[in-house]
Formats: sequence, C-alpha cells, structure tokens
Amino acid sequence: MIAELEELQKRAETEIAGAGTEKELQEVKTRYLGRKGLLTGLLRNIANVSPNERPLFGRQSNEVKDILTGKIEAALQGIKAVEKGDTLARERVDVTLEGRRIKPGRLHPVTQVREEICSIFASFGFSVVEGPEVEQDYYNFEALNIPKDHPARDMQDTFYIEDNIVLRTHTSPVQVRTMLKQPPPVRILSPGRVYRPDSDVSHTPMFHQIEGLLVDKEVTFADLKGILTVFLQEVFGGDTLIRFRPSFFPFTEPSAEVDIQCVMCRGEGCRVCGQTGWLEILGAGMVHPEVFKNVGYDPEEYSGFAFGLGIERIAMLKYGISDIRLFFENDWRFLEQF
Ligand code: DAH
Repeated sequence: MIAELEELQKRAETEIAGAGTEKELQEVKTRYLGRKGLLTGLLRNIANVSPNERPLFGRQSNEVKDILTGKIEAALQGIKAVEKGDTLARERVDVTLEGRRIKPGRLHPVTQVREEICSIFASFGFSVVEGPEVEQDYYNFEALNIPKDHPARDMQDTFYIEDNIVLRTHTSPVQVRTMLKQPPPVRILSPGRVYRPDSDVSHTPMFHQIEGLLVDKEVTFADLKGILTVFLQEVFGGDTLIRFRPSFFPFTEPSAEVDIQCVMCRGEGCRVCGQTGWLEILGAGMVHPEVFKNVGYDPEEYSGFAFGLGIERIAMLKYGISDIRLFFENDWRFLEQF
C-alpha cells in the first residue's frame, strides 16, 4: 500500500507539472484530492493495511495530500502570473506615441453669413424672430395680399402639403405672424429655411432667407434706402455702389429690387453679372396698406418697410462660389475653406 501511495504521488506530481491552464490544474486536483479522487479512494481502503503499518500509512497519506495541495497551489500561482504577464504585454500602451489631433469644427458658411447679417441689423435695433417652415396658405400668401388665383402666385412655385398647408416659399409670413402678435413699433429680422421646387446651379429646393420688417410712425422710403445701403456696404465693403430699381411685390407698394455693383468685375461687366455690372441682391418695399389691414394696423397712422434676401446668394457673392449646391453636399474640402 505504501508503495502504491508513493506511485500515486509521483503520477500526481507529473500531472501537476504538465498542467498548462487553471482548468487543467483543477481537473488534476479533482482527480487526486476530490471526494471521489484517487488519494481519497486509497485512504478509504485503510482497512486492508496491516494494523502495524496503519499509523505510518495514515501519516504518509496526509503528508502526500499536503504536498500535492501545496504543489497545486504553487502551480496555480505560476499560471496566474503568466496570464497576467500576457495581459500586460497585450495591453501595453506606448506612452511615447504622438496623440491624434482633433480637427476643430467650424460654422457652415450659410450660418456665418446669417450671423453676420443678424449682428449688423442688431446694431440697428432689430431683434430675431422665427416662424414655422410648414406654413398655412393664409400666412404664406393670403395675408400678404396674394389671393388664391392671383398671378403673383406663379412667381413662386410651391410645395403643397395639403390644400391649405405649404412649405413656406419665403420668410415673409413671419412679418404677418409678428404683427398679429404685437402692436407697432416693430423691428424684426427673421432668418430661416424656405422651399421651392427648383434645382440648378443657382437654385436648391431648400434655401435660406432673411426677412426684415420695420414699422413705426413716419417711416419713409428714405429710411429703407438708408438702412439697406449701410447694411450692404457693411457686408460687401464701404465703396460698393448700391442701386434701387422699381419692381413689384404684392405685399409692398412701392416695391424695389436692390442691386450691388458686381463684386467680380467691380462694374466692368463680366459673365457673373451678365455684362451689366450689377447683381440683384434683395427685394424690398414699403409695407402694403392691405397687409397692415390684414393684421389690424392702421395704415393711416403707421408705415413701414420690409425686405427679403437669400443667404446663399449673399454667401456665393461674398466668397465667389459658383454653384449653390456646394453648400449642401457636406464636403469637408469645401467647408473647411470658410
Ligand atoms: N418674399 C420675397 C421673395 O421671397 C422677398 C421679398 C421682397 C420680401 C420684398 C420682402 C419684400 O419683405 O418687401 O422673393
């Protein structure tokens, strides 16, 4: 029996030494020291040992058990150390590597121009208000003196959502909404998205406009000319010539279109200005008495002017961009230039 015990110890030690993982070690442990293990089985047979050998056998068995337990524990520590070493090696961080640079974002050119315009008008006392992009026919057309079968509706192709609901074709409905909400005086600027079914190098189905409105007592066309001239010279340079041409809008009377001297050829005549030396930049006029009546303002007591401009158009002229669609392609190479 003692010989058997020694034999068992040797085999167990070989297996412990050969176990490469925690799991294998656990299996060796169970095989020898577990409740149904080989050493336990040997001890159970102690009855077969001659009575005078029993104390020695018992003692030696316990020794073997302690030795094996100790060796398994030591082997386990060894395996864990190796695994930890592996993990550390795998997760090694090279602290000398150069960091990744974060590219700073920047404001979209349309946003930059919008902010510039808003801040110029803020210095004239205008505050910013906004209106809905999905708009009622009434605010987009009717209240602005454009009845249903008026030919002026053809000036603006329209996306209809329902019979009387449209995607606003301009920011002018915000004039109406504002005047319905507050009594005069009014000095507002309303930037936002507008929609028209149009698409080519100078048109996109969605673009941005800014509407301006000033109403007070004794506002004249001279005020309109003064403010718009100062504004345009702020944007395009103090020596830029400005021209007012008679025009027609249903919601203003009289109406004007405002041109600036061509920014490309400085008035010489080129392809951009169609050899005229001038570029049309915005529409404006004195608020029509019908519009005042629609919002409950007395046209005898109050007068005012309004104007509307396209932000992309101004950005294109300011930065020399020839295709409006570039604004909406989100091409970093284009956007990072601003
Ligand atoms: N709403 C016009 C358009 O989208 C622009 C405009 C012209 C606005 C004259 C005005 C104005 O307020 O007075 O074409």
